[in-house]
Amino acid sequence: MKTIESIFKINEFRDADIMACSGLNEEHGKNFGAVSAPLVKTSLFVQHDYQTYCDDMQHEAERYIYSRGLNPTTELLEKKLAALERGEACKAFASGMGAISAILFALLKNGDHVIIVNNVYGPTVTLIKQMHERFNIEYDIVISGNPDDIKEKIKPNTRMIYTESPGTMTMRLVDLSKISAIAKQNNIITVIDNTWATPLFQKPISLGFDIVIHSCTKYIGGHSDLTAGAVIGSNKYINEIRDFSHQLLGAVLAPDSAWLVIRGLRTLPIRMKQHQENVIQVLNYLKSRDDIENICHPLMGSEEQLSLLATQMYGVSGLFSFELKHGSFEKVRTFIDACKIFKPGCSWGGYESLIISPNRGYNEKAIVQDGMAPGLIRVSVGQEAPEILINDLNNAFNTINEI
Ligand SMILES: Cc1ncc(COP(=O)(O)O)c(C=O)c1O
Repeated sequence: MKTIESIFKINEFRDADIMACSGLNEEHGKNFGAVSAPLVKTSLFVQHDYQTYCDDMQHEAERYIYSRGLNPTTELLEKKLAALERGEACKAFASGMGAISAILFALLKNGDHVIIVNNVYGPTVTLIKQMHERFNIEYDIVISGNPDDIKEKIKPNTRMIYTESPGTMTMRLVDLSKISAIAKQNNIITVIDNTWATPLFQKPISLGFDIVIHSCTKYIGGHSDLTAGAVIGSNKYINEIRDFSHQLLGAVLAPDSAWLVIRGLRTLPIRMKQHQENVIQVLNYLKSRDDIENICHPLMGSEEQLSLLATQMYGVSGLFSFELKHGSFEKVRTFIDACKIFKPGCSWGGYESLIISPNRGYNEKAIVQDGMAPGLIRVSVGQEAPEILINDLNNAFNTINEI
């Protein structure tokens, strides 16, 4: 495998990103010099007099009136995330799905068409399918992510292209600059779920995307102690999302969780560096084994994928999948149970290393029909020392090979 330094171009955003994650741009003077951001734990802000209240209500979006609208702690987080993604504005939500549904409900209306590109997080696709059945939203899925295949699906009512890169499970990258260029030519909004890469390793807005979403539950929060989501983009789109989905659907982020995400951001740069170092070592170990079929991580992709990685990303994170040769539910279960450091758990992006499989026994036939191998395993490489992680996987391989 090539070294990280030889793959990625210089990250021109790095210094500004470190600044945005840190507390250096916070106004400590306003808070008794406290270096930790203030947690303003209130639902309500009362005003000096009724005239002030009436004036504030005319500027609801910018004034502290009620925390479903604006709260100083959540607002601080929103400013940091907007800065990190190079967007004009951000709104934070109670979960990643809260953010995703906010975009879809705010920007789509009856009769609009969405093109889903690449392997997108299952519940997002399920939500769009539900919107098809209930609200007459049309959709097509272009799994290949190929720009020509996307062009073919564009219709007069196509309003949105929604993608993830890398794609869920397959970890395949799609060409974000080409996709945004096609969308612009056709007046289509582009949305990307950037959770895997984090704003440190991929800047979709700088590649022409309109809207970025994050599940901050994962790397951005980073400690498996909260659920949170965020939507970042231009003032125009974020205002639409704020007025409709944030205010009226109301799945807003509580200030307590916003405070925890701000704390998580402080260490995002060093955590991502460590996830990257750990995953490279784990991938190098797995590559040397002949009892696995396939490793799905952008660093293990074809020449074409590696060149996309180099042109549109600045680093890699620790979530990936691989296939056990001659896999079955029994083999997968034995492997997972033999791991003592990697724990079975469906989220990712926190301190702890995690392991699961789409194969839950009862659905083995269905996953094979969906094109997945029965021995497919997904791991989230955490912050533990890489040799401990490799040792854990090695023991698990020894256990299945003894069967
Ligand atoms: C790629 C991706 N996007 C969005 C989500 C949803 O985020 P949340 O669980 O915070 O709602 C997930 C959750 O696993 C995810 O993997």
